[in-house]
Amino acid sequence: MKALVYQGVDKKAYIERPKPIVASATDAIVRVTKTTICGTDLHILKGDLPSCLPGRILGHEGVGIIDSVGSAVTAFRVGDHVLISCVSACGKCAYCRRQMYSHCTTGGWILGNTIDGTQAEFVRIPHADSSLYPIPTGADEEAFVMMSDILPTGFECGVLNGKVQPGNVVAIVGAGPVGLAALLTAQFYSPGQIIVIDLDEKRLAVAKKLGATATINSSNGKAKGSVMSLTEERGVDTAIEAVGIPATFELCELLIAPGGTIANIGVHGVQVPLHLERLWDRNITMTTRLVDTASTPMLLNILKADKIDPKRLITHHFKFDQILDAYATFAHAAETGALKVIIEA
Ligand SMILES: NC(=O)c1ccc[n+]([C@@H]2O[C@H](COP(=O)([O-])OP(=O)(O)OC[C@H]3O[C@@H](n4cnc5c(N)ncnc54)[C@H](O)[C@@H]3O)[C@@H](O)[C@H]2O)c1
Ligand SMILES: [Zn+2]
Ligand SMILES: [Zn+2]
Repeated sequence: MKALVYQGVDKKAYIERPKPIVASATDAIVRVTKTTICGTDLHILKGDLPSCLPGRILGHEGVGIIDSVGSAVTAFRVGDHVLISCVSACGKCAYCRRQMYSHCTTGGWILGNTIDGTQAEFVRIPHADSSLYPIPTGADEEAFVMMSDILPTGFECGVLNGKVQPGNVVAIVGAGPVGLAALLTAQFYSPGQIIVIDLDEKRLAVAKKLGATATINSSNGKAKGSVMSLTEERGVDTAIEAVGIPATFELCELLIAPGGTIANIGVHGVQVPLHLERLWDRNITMTTRLVDTASTPMLLNILKADKIDPKRLITHHFKFDQILDAYATFAHAAETGALKVIIEA
């Protein structure tokens, strides 16, 4: 089969790899019909994630059709149409019993990280019963691709951890697909203001369409002043970091109001300064989280009820053999206007 393989910092290739086989009774092999690229794949290519070794097939998002199942898989059969969660969960270990699936002792975020991922014709899904979701007949596959990772990530790591409340002021730093997923799901709670900050005017324009009450281009270094003037010099109750570099986390530290919560989503590859000399007396909370996908069933209900339209995050379509073009388009979003790119078989 063909696959997109990480080959070391800044190197990837679209090459032939053996088709995966059921290795454990709880595995399923899924024929991938649609996948996509995440900001995290770009972090891997930058060398930010040492857990992902050269030779790894990338990708942790997608939908497909079950091709084969191990003898212990009871919830799915060959031919079933399924959503692949970015997190694999045994459902039984101490972390899974606390719904902290991201830290499952035999799963977690392993796809396209420590085991081969979804940017391939076929993928092996461990713990298939609790790591796949059925896609109802007639449902839109593309909307489901947004449910593998970015919707639960924006919602769990940003909105839930950030304690977004009715009437509160939220800042989202980073208007990539994950920041925009936080923007969409923050609106479940009717915050008073949602201020989205990025360097990319195209993405800020999308944020405005998706419900941002204000957008700020931080390239002039004056984002803090702009946020203060929008908040009567108070700052924000929730600051969501959705980039993964020191400058944007430090900006969240500057924006947070007394009593507020900084909710980190970004994957960080280098040390980030923590300004306790400014923050120690501000009663703030700081959270980090690897998406657990514990909210996926709830988000799927919201999708079914038509209360959210995640397809608004899709900008480009590619065939699987054009995946290198898809990477180039996603990695140069400022020029291409890319958000989520759908890559289909
Ligand atoms: N915690 C988790 O479980 C989890 C899951 C998925 C993704 N992530 C991480 O979330 C982050 C966002 O993912 P994405 O797919 O949206 O990535 P992305 O790369 O598409 O988006 C990042 C955005 O940040 C903006 N940006 C860059 N530098 C900036 C700066 N100095 N100031 C303001 N904005 C700046 C970019 O213009 C871009 O719009 C990444 O770090 C990704 O690895 C974390
Ligand atoms: Zn991801
Ligand atoms: Zn587990």
